[in-house]
Amino acid sequence: MTFRQKHLLGIEPLHPTEITAILDLADKYADLNRQSIKHSDALTGLTQINMFFENSTRTQASFEIAGKRLGADVMNMAMQASSIKKGETLIDTALTLNAMHPDLLVVRHPHSGAVDLLSQKVNCAVLNAGDGRHEHPTQALLDALTIRRRKGRLHRLNIAICGDIAHSRVARSNIILLGKMENRIRLIGPPTLLPSQFREFGCEVYDDMNEGLKDVDVVMMLRLQRERMDGGFIPSEREYYHRFGLDAEKLANAKDDAIVMHPGPMNRGVEIDGDIADDINRSVIQEQVEMGVAVRMAAMDLLAQNQREARMQGV
Ligand code: CP
Repeated sequence: MTFRQKHLLGIEPLHPTEITAILDLADKYADLNRQSIKHSDALTGLTQINMFFENSTRTQASFEIAGKRLGADVMNMAMQASSIKKGETLIDTALTLNAMHPDLLVVRHPHSGAVDLLSQKVNCAVLNAGDGRHEHPTQALLDALTIRRRKGRLHRLNIAICGDIAHSRVARSNIILLGKMENRIRLIGPPTLLPSQFREFGCEVYDDMNEGLKDVDVVMMLRLQRERMDGGFIPSEREYYHRFGLDAEKLANAKDDAIVMHPGPMNRGVEIDGDIADDINRSVIQEQVEMGVAVRMAAMDLLAQNQREARMQGV
């Protein structure tokens, strides 16, 4: 067993061999998911609760599908209709659910660190489905799986992450993961959306798309995270698209076989041209969504295995 974690709270605590273990198992689940019968019994008898305190399409749907394909009893908490609205705290909500003996808690929360805090109050495995600007580990893992399948490797690639780096947990998790796997990372965006701390991660920083995209293997675009902005970070969306939106002209700087990625949701005509997003020869955006189910199946399977082992050892 090369994956030793009790929770999946971020990419930061993971060893590269643990990342590889998740991706290897996810590869198998990706194959299973292309069969007509997609079931496995890895989580049979286990209870999975999904708690999303922020909107989600991809992450929530794929965690639910992943749990169901593995045989878990899956419950989606309707947070807008929960007692949180009556003033119950996150911790009291977690303790209440914990008393019902879930095995897996999947949590998305607008505050950085909230999922970590919650994991300290419950007995089950907790998976971070995105916390504030902090981390979105399963997104980085599904991005890594997509890159590995398309490029045949996950090391020594030139990868550009472009746009609103400052507010993006997707960027942060990807920077950590891709760095651990020894890739060369370039960050491209306006200085207002590019915190200097990322230079410490060994990233190269550009404020010019044509320069930054030169000869890259992977172009990862990011949405402007308006819900996390508390001021004017860009002059206008039109100006932003002109300078930082990915179009055919800017993409021509990348390698001929460079792939285009986007975690979604996308704002066409703001950070990416719609034709590029839909170009099946360049864009792997739909494959990212597909890999999302496989990665979440793998992560929950491995955490459940560790939980069973800990119980057998009386930990
Ligand atoms: N990429 C991502 O987290 O998408 P959702 O917000 O739709 O889950």
